[in-house]
Amino acid sequence: MRFYMPTELLDDENCVEKHSDRFLALGKNALIVTGKNSARNNGSFDDVTAALDKQGIAWTEFAEIEENPSVETVMKGKDAAIQNNADFIIGIGGGSPLDAAKAIALMAAHPEAGAESLYGGDLDSNALPMAAVPTTCGTGSEATGVAVLTRHELKTKGSIPYRIFPKVAFIDGKYLVDAPMSLIISTAVDALSHIVESYFMLKADEYSRMAAMHGLKVWARSKPILLGERYLNAQDRRNLMCASTLAGMAIAQTGTSIPHALSYPLTYELGIPHGRAVGYFLGAFLEEAPDEEKWELLTTGGFRNISEFKVFLKRLVGDIEVTEEVLNRGYEMVKDDPKRMECSIFPVSHEDLRKIVYGQDAQKFA
Ligand SMILES: [Fe+2]
Repeated sequence: MRFYMPTELLDDENCVEKHSDRFLALGKNALIVTGKNSARNNGSFDDVTAALDKQGIAWTEFAEIEENPSVETVMKGKDAAIQNNADFIIGIGGGSPLDAAKAIALMAAHPEAGAESLYGGDLDSNALPMAAVPTTCGTGSEATGVAVLTRHELKTKGSIPYRIFPKVAFIDGKYLVDAPMSLIISTAVDALSHIVESYFMLKADEYSRMAAMHGLKVWARSKPILLGERYLNAQDRRNLMCASTLAGMAIAQTGTSIPHALSYPLTYELGIPHGRAVGYFLGAFLEEAPDEEKWELLTTGGFRNISEFKVFLKRLVGDIEVTEEVLNRGYEMVKDDPKRMECSIFPVSHEDLRKIVYGQDAQKFA
């Protein structure tokens, strides 16, 4: 086995303020990478800039990260980092800004490299040091080396072939206070998918499963609030953030599996948020898994059987209008890709894959 997760995790209320000295170890001049608004609205941007000011660290802002960030945006961020002489990067937000921040940290350390190197794999993994401040509860990006970007030329999303772990992550449930419930649900489904997919990977071992299973235990405490049965409190927000980070620790070891691969065309073509797009396939995927492991996972999550899990998931994911064309694209992309078809502890045949892809709407697409 090998468990590698070299990020210092600080999970605490007001942890950015309490641990502002951590930024000093990263550099003297930060580029803050965020989306357009949310980091300013949820208080994380103000916390980070106050911490930097307190430590006498210069900073500039690159607030241009769109949802599902593109290679082009990363290259603009790289230029911003170089023009401002940034010597470290701070990503604030959900998966999009955190993943983009990693890619910018990589590219800024290779000024001569062009966009083609992002997926070309020809660079070494040297990157500017990076800090992560997650403000959603699904990506787990703060605890992984993975960066997923949108590739317009291929009309899909994909991970870049480099591993860039944040040096430090500041995890604070208070950034979820004003998050809309739809965002919390979608990102929580993403975290659940990370747990389930990681658990069944060939690369999974007792250590990655420790992170996945404990993540699931913590995650399951929030089931009533995800179903709208009561409002979130501060402990729920801490739980959701913690579960997301534990799930990230698991996929940092194993990678993700078929539901993630199938989700990308749904997000690219139909604009369906990542968590809901993954959740669309997750029930049918778990149904294909071997009974013993499936049972262990279901009971840990507090589900009596796979049907209950699927009904629960359907309530969270809601109705998604998919088209046969988009499902077919996902099926064609995955069916002959050994990285996806042969990554699980159970064999997945083309017939199994068809059930996972078309399972929800099997009659519609029969
Ligand atoms: Fe994900």
